[in-house]
This record gives sequence, C-alpha cells and structure tokens, in this order.
Amino acid sequence: MQNTSNINLNDETFCKIRDLIYQLTGIFYSEQKKYLIETRLSKRLSDLNLANYEDYFYLLKYSAKQSDEIKELFNSITTNETSFFRDVPQLKVFEDDVLKEILKQIKESPVNYSKKIRIWSAGCSTGEEPFTLAIIIMEHLNEIPAGFSFEIIGSDISENALSSARKGIYSSYTLRNTEPRLIEKYFDKIDNEQFQVRNNIKNMVSFYNINLINFDSIKKIGNFDIIFCRNVIIYFNNDSKKVVISNLYDSLKKNGYLFLGHSESLHFISSSFKLVGFGKTPLYVKE
Ligand SMILES: C[S@@+](CC[C@H](N)C(=O)[O-])C[C@H]1O[C@@H](n2cnc3c(N)ncnc32)[C@H](O)[C@@H]1O
Repeated sequence: MQNTSNINLNDETFCKIRDLIYQLTGIFYSEQKKYLIETRLSKRLSDLNLANYEDYFYLLKYSAKQSDEIKELFNSITTNETSFFRDVPQLKVFEDDVLKEILKQIKESPVNYSKKIRIWSAGCSTGEEPFTLAIIIMEHLNEIPAGFSFEIIGSDISENALSSARKGIYSSYTLRNTEPRLIEKYFDKIDNEQFQVRNNIKNMVSFYNINLINFDSIKKIGNFDIIFCRNVIIYFNNDSKKVVISNLYDSLKKNGYLFLGHSESLHFISSSFKLVGFGKTPLYVKE
C-alpha cells in the first residue's frame, strides 16, 4: 500500500473522473467539490498501488476489472449519512395521513387495492429508512385487513451500504431519534453500543442494488404505492434530477405518493405530480 497524501488530482483528470461519475450515477461534483473526490478516492489509489489519478481513471474506463472497480467507486463517492426516524414530522404525515388513509380505503373498497401494498425506499443507504417504515407499519398491524400485507424494498448503488443494511446491526448513535419503547420492542441488544433489528421487521424489507438514473435497473422491481426518495437528488444537477424523478413517476401506481427530503423539491424539475401539503411537510401525488 502506498502513501497517497502527496498525490494531487489535477483539474483535467478531475473533470474526466467527475464526468464519468455523473454519467454513471447522476451525481454531480462541481469544481468546488474537487477536494471531496480527491479525498474519497485517495484510498482506492493507495489500495491499488496506483501512481496517480489518471491511472485510476484509465482503470475505471478501460481495464478488464472495470466493473468491479465501478462498484468500489460507488462505495467511495456516495454520501451515506442516515438514521432511524430521521424526519419525525414527515414520518407523522406518512403514518397519520398516508398509511391510515390507505388502510381506511382498503376497508371501504378492498377490490380497488392489490393484496400487497408496496413501498420503496430509493437510495436507502444502510437501511435505517426502510426499517423505520417497517416499524411504523408494524405498530398498525392490527388495523391491516385480513389478506393484505406490506412489502418494502430498499435500494442503493453502494454495495457496502446494502451489505450493512442486510445485516441489520446498528449503533446507538443511529437510533438516537428512536423512542426507547420501540428499540425495546423491535431490536435485540447485542451490547451497550449495538442493536440488531428483529426478524419480524427484517423480513418485511428486501434490499436491491438499483441505479436510479437507469430505468432498466428500476423496472425489475415493479410499481409502488409509496416511494421515499429522501436526501438523494440533492447530489444531482437539474438534468439528472429530471431523469430520476421521471423514473420514479413511472414506478408509482396511480394516486401513489412520493416523499422527498426536507430540502428537496420538484420546482423546475417536474410538473407531473400534484403537490399536497400537510402542515410544513410537502408531499407529491401521482394523479
Ligand atoms: C444521504 S443518503 C440518504 C439515505 C436515506 N434516504 C435518508 O434520507 O436517510 C443518499 C443515498 O443515495 C444513494 N445514491 C446516490 N446516487 C444514487 C443512484 N444513482 N442510484 C441509487 N442510489 C443512489 C447513495 O449511495 C446514498 O446511500
């Protein structure tokens, strides 16, 4: 392993790597974010014993090991920050206005619904978001009409994040917003610092490697009643946001709901959705 602290990423190679990342993922790094690419990829140079970033670009673009390295690239350049119950007001809207409404409508006219209500956490990172949704649904288990069930899909492009999600082991820090009674009810304590999601919650969620910029990748997982895509499109520019939002639109069932992150909106991106507001929480509906 070599010391890469003295290897600089020059502007020309930065642009080549930046454009390749953009083309593969939709994530756009401006010139001001060059330092991020440099620091995030320096470990790859060191692990691979490469002399400079130009050699790394050639490995990504032309080598026989290209596809393995692209997976490593995705692990390195994505921002995977997340936590359980990350946005409580929005989750309240999910629970009180969306979930309860769906359960009410199923009771009133069950024939209008398919037997499986499908929810997708797109860009789920290490799994906290889809497991949070599973916990909220489990709290309403008695209200789910007989014959109906919920299926949750979590997806990401970082294999490292997905493999951590599949293990379902979490630190107390990522559970900092979770009510103690819910930790007690849905997690096994491994030690003072680590908790494992119980099987009843784990079995409600399946994880897949799906690239949101690529509709061929998305269409394998079918259509959804609800999509959460939170804190993902903030890393994209307007062109890739438009592609991703259109892909999500095509993956939603009629009257399906789209939840975005707190600082994300469809302004200038798409006019296909109807914006419905619940207090300060905006929510998009496919009409
Ligand atoms: C900041 S995390 C958000 C996690 C979670 N949704 C939340 O709000 O807590 C963003 C995730 O989006 C994923 N991501 C970025 N670009 C993606 C793409 N093109 N396709 C799928 N996932 C992507 C990243 O790997 C990362 O795990």
